[in-house]
Amino acid sequence: MREEMTKSAAPGGGSDHPVWHGRWTLLMAATGSAVGLGNIWKFPYITGENGGAAFVLIYIVFVLVLGVPLMLGELGLGRSSRKSPLSTIMDINRERGLPKGLDLAGWIPQIGSISILTFYSVIAGWSLLYILYSLMGVFSGIDAAGSEEVFTGLLGSAGVMILGHTVFMALTAFIIARGAVAGIARSIGWLMPLLLTMVVIMLGYSMFSGEFARGVAYLFTPDFSKVTPAAISEALGHAFFSLSLGMGAIMVYGSYMQNQENIPVTGTTVSLLDMVLALGMGLVVFPVVFAYGLEPSAGPGLIFQSVPLAMGNLPLGDIFNVVFFSLVAFAALSSSISLLEPTVAMIEERVQTSRPVITVIVAGGTWLVGIAAALSFNHWDEIKIFGAGIFDALDFVSGQILLPLGGLVVAVWSGWYMNRSAIREQLVMSDALFSIWEIAVRYVTPLLIVLVMLGGLGIISF
Ligand code: TRP
Repeated sequence: MREEMTKSAAPGGGSDHPVWHGRWTLLMAATGSAVGLGNIWKFPYITGENGGAAFVLIYIVFVLVLGVPLMLGELGLGRSSRKSPLSTIMDINRERGLPKGLDLAGWIPQIGSISILTFYSVIAGWSLLYILYSLMGVFSGIDAAGSEEVFTGLLGSAGVMILGHTVFMALTAFIIARGAVAGIARSIGWLMPLLLTMVVIMLGYSMFSGEFARGVAYLFTPDFSKVTPAAISEALGHAFFSLSLGMGAIMVYGSYMQNQENIPVTGTTVSLLDMVLALGMGLVVFPVVFAYGLEPSAGPGLIFQSVPLAMGNLPLGDIFNVVFFSLVAFAALSSSISLLEPTVAMIEERVQTSRPVITVIVAGGTWLVGIAAALSFNHWDEIKIFGAGIFDALDFVSGQILLPLGGLVVAVWSGWYMNRSAIREQLVMSDALFSIWEIAVRYVTPLLIVLVMLGGLGIISF
């Protein structure tokens, strides 16, 4: 669907850089990127691992105080340069006469997005497999023990898991190879409302058949004694992960955004929608968890165990499960393409090779590392990197080191290094709001990121 883009002659940018046409395309692409496994799979399980409401509250504060301003900054950086994330940073460095060493900052999003994609694809593969299981009727009338058995069975079957991962990665690569992100984004226009409807239906189930009051209390009555520096760091990493920030995804999408689209409105809408969906999923999952006596801290299997259990006991439950996991897979796909695009775009700028070839090489490498992540749940569970399995290590390094660093890069480069009148031009809003944005990205965000990272790594304690 390359024809849906035109090559732009945008000021300051590469003259053959594509721009997406059609109102809402950017809004939908960015929503597609943001809403994904982070909201549906990761948010509920890390909330459970970190004891509930206090963690949720910290995450909400991070989204509002750091996430929204960074989203605007990252879109602005991308649209003003109309290049890949690495080139965006490098161009600013040259313009400013900054040392070459600072170009390293531009590599963080490029490396980070690929390292997230390695394990992201494995989990997305689970959702593909769960569509199959639902079609096979595995979940009809299932009980808690049965549901746990299905999930642990999957964790133990390396071949099945690798199959799911392979199919998912192939789908991602296919879309990127064809340069069809804008085409996919348009399906978001009707799939996102469908996902919202599904969450509302499941909410109905949780309200009437789950322990809803307990779920609400768990999510919204904070007990700050449970807050550790590690939990704060995880909440920060997750706020960035869920909003797709700091890894060049939003920047590269911003580079395809038409000039007349409004960055502050679009960016804020995407951020709020993403957060509401995560909270909605929390409200679906925890009442079921409590009603069936599951452990909130069950870990990465939390939604894979709780949702089929709840749906499996409803009339037409198999259909609900098929629809739910199909929507999860689609949400994951519209996110994974935004993890592959930045690197493919970056290489495309530099090497005279066709996009499909570049895509196959990058996706192939990512797929191989993903296999190691899948094997770390079974055959390779003895292999430890700094005490963590391969999957956990990839998750930790990207989530709690590369993501915050990427956020820092966006804050510093959009707030300090980028030409002030260029960013002012991108962010169409009142002077007062712009000043607030500037204070947020220049001072508040860098300071908080550094403090939280040092705390999370145990370098300082508070
Ligand atoms: N935000 C997506 C999710 O919540 C994942 C994702 C897509 C992402 N692109 C990203 C995370 C870029 C970090 C950076 O599932």
